[in-house]
Amino acid sequence: MLHPFRPEQLSADVQPSEADVQEILFSAQTMQARIAQLGAQISLDYEDKNPVLVGVLVGAVVFMADLMRHITVPSFIDFVAISSYGKESRSSGVVRILKDLDESVESRHVLIVEDIVDTGLTLNYLLDSMRHRNVASVRTCAMLDKPSRRLNTVKVDYVGFEVPDEFVVGYGLDFAQRYRNLPYVGILRPEVYGGK
Ligand code: IMP
Repeated sequence: MLHPFRPEQLSADVQPSEADVQEILFSAQTMQARIAQLGAQISLDYEDKNPVLVGVLVGAVVFMADLMRHITVPSFIDFVAISSYGKESRSSGVVRILKDLDESVESRHVLIVEDIVDTGLTLNYLLDSMRHRNVASVRTCAMLDKPSRRLNTVKVDYVGFEVPDEFVVGYGLDFAQRYRNLPYVGILRPEVYGGK
């Protein structure tokens, strides 16, 4: 079952509160430590490759900001913004690019940086899109992975943490544009989004 996101029906008076978080999964400290490890691994793997880190707006900005500071090899940063067409759910799988890369990635080593991989449809779309640009290589890095909801076999090369089939917020992840600024990742109470 897809989560019943209907952002267009949300009222502007939804007030975010830390009490809306049912459980903290990964503290700020835990996130920092794991992202440092990811950055170290990526730095090893991309030595002499001058990778282009492609962040997926908006959710990946917090992760990207941390990750890039732990990457010690020369790298470039660019962003794409995408949107699902479907109104029923964010994970309709029909995706369009709202903001494309600023620069060409032809012959470059691209690392897509995502906030969370859920069904995998968005990441799959982005992977395809990058492959069509004659890149030297393309890999994927996600702060969080929710493998239980995967609808395809998309490969996530670098994963921060796996999460259970719950709706999580914080560290860039939102519900109706709220909670992105929480310094930790936590499970949002289902009552908040009318789920479960
Ligand atoms: P996918 O195409 O189903 O993999 O969806 C990926 C996108 O859905 C992510 O980049 C998030 O923006 C959003 N998303 C999926 N699960 C969650 C969640 O638990 N919290 C917040 N956003 C989520």
